[in-house]
Parts: sequence; C-alpha cells; structure tokens
Amino acid sequence: MMFKPEVLVLTLAATMMMARGLQIGRRELLASAFVGWTTTTPKPANAEDGVQLFAKNCAACHAGGGNIVARTKTLSAADLNRDGYSSLEKMAEIIALGKNAMPGYGEACQPKLACTFGPHLSEDEVNSVAEFVLDQAQAGWPQS
Ligand code: HEC
Repeated sequence: MMFKPEVLVLTLAATMMMARGLQIGRRELLASAFVGWTTTTPKPANAEDGVQLFAKNCAACHAGGGNIVARTKTLSAADLNRDGYSSLEKMAEIIALGKNAMPGYGEACQPKLACTFGPHLSEDEVNSVAEFVLDQAQAGWPQS
C-alpha cells in the first residue's frame, strides 16, 4: 500500500473534528440533563425520612414492628413473607392503598374513607418508609 500523507492528515482532522463535536454534544446533553433534573425532580426522601415517617404514621399500630390491631399481622420478616409483603413493590402498595383496618397513605388512595385522615405521603415518602420497614424486618426490628 502506498503511503499518502494527505489522506492521513485529512483522516486525522476529521477524527479530531468528530471528537470535538461529540465532546460538545455530550457536555450540552449533560448540562441540559442536569438542569432538567434540578428543576423537575423533588428532593428524594432518604433513609432518615423513613425513620421519621414510620414514627409519625405507623408506630401507633406497628410500634416495634408489631400490630396492635391485627395481632397476627406484624411487620416481622416471617409475617411479611407469609403474607407476600417482602418485596419493596408489595410493601409500597399496602402502604399506599391500605387494607381492611389499615388506612392507605398514598396520594392515589381511594376511596377516601379507607385512607388516612392525615396528610398523604408522596411516592418517594411511601418508598422511603417501605424500605425502612423491610430493613428493620430483616434485622429483627432493632429500632423498637
Ligand atoms: C390504624 C392502625 C394502622 C396504622 C396506623 C398502620 N397500619 Fe399497617 N396494618 C394495620 C392492620 C390492621 C393490618 C392488617 C391488614 C390486614 O387485614 O391484612 C396492617 C398490615 C400491615 C402490613 C402487612 C403485615 C402482614 O404481616 O400482613 C404492613 C407491611 C403494614 N401494615 C405497614 C404499615 C406501615 C408502613 C404503616 C405506616 C405508613 C402502617 N402499616 C400503618 C394497621 C395499621
């Protein structure tokens, strides 16, 4: 193959231009993603919120992971497993919608009579308290 310096130079120039174009594109993309994130995402609830949300909304019936209303339906890992609440999804569902004598806490809880009379919890808050309950259940409710 014959060596052609002009081809090499051209290829190099094209590669550099493409790389620069990509870089700018990426930076712009990141910047707009960041702006979108800061303007549209509410502050995510964190683990500390879970502790407090539980104390405020659940402990009246479930202090220490128990259940003073339906005594066989505690928040122990064994009871949660038996009743199908050991996944985050199912846990968040019962918290949001309630069940029998347990009120629902989610924003979409219907009908109103089956829901808490207090302020409803956002999806983030529901997930945060659900994670707290699952963590505690797994650890045998040290925070009682
Ligand atoms: C007014 C009392 C009351 C409050 C407050 C309450 N619950 Fe309950 N909870 C119950 C009752 C009663 C049941 C049993 C429901 C049934 O019939 O299956 C239950 C069941 C559960 C279960 C399923 C337990 C099992 O082993 O089947 C979970 C999980 C749960 N509650 C979580 C929560 C969380 C988290 C909160 C706070 C956001 C909360 N509950 C607030 C009364 C309450």
